[in-house]
Amino acid sequence: MFVGLIALWWQAMRRDPGEISQEQVRRLQNRWILAGGLALPLGSIALILALGIPAGRNMLPLPPAGGDAMVIEVKAYQWGWRVTYPDQDIELTDELHIPTDTPVDIHLTTADVIHSFWVPRLAGKLDTIPGRTNVLRLEASRPGEYRGQCAEFCGIGHAHMSFTVTAHPPEEYEKWREKAQADD
Ligand code: CUA
Repeated sequence: MFVGLIALWWQAMRRDPGEISQEQVRRLQNRWILAGGLALPLGSIALILALGIPAGRNMLPLPPAGGDAMVIEVKAYQWGWRVTYPDQDIELTDELHIPTDTPVDIHLTTADVIHSFWVPRLAGKLDTIPGRTNVLRLEASRPGEYRGQCAEFCGIGHAHMSFTVTAHPPEEYEKWREKAQADD
């Protein structure tokens, strides 16, 4: 849009003024209103939605193609995160490990007050609410360590209620999982 605007400005500066009738002026103005006021915003919004809706859908905890998503249970408490891998005999505090390129559903609960689970580089925030289980879909496309933080004021220890999500390539994740189970 910026380049288009500059091109129009450049052309307006350079062209001959010429003589045009009132009728032509009116027709030109109508054309600008239709193109710049209707076609351009509608086209831009359609493009943004066409890209944004599939991206947003991928963030929803819908069943992914080819089976169920991996589940990790996270229970927030004042002031930390208890992490459990169901049926795997793994329990951690303030750290999660996930495989890359795999949809993982975080089942969020709380032992006391409302907290909010937030890994800014992987997904939006989701509150942990007493008596409820909220589900947040995470998927890391690159291996690495991602910082997470409680994002809802929950008392004196709130600011220190951080955690990490480590994304491993799938084969390394399997090695980590076997080791974590053996250590338990
Ligand atoms: Cu937990 Cu803020």
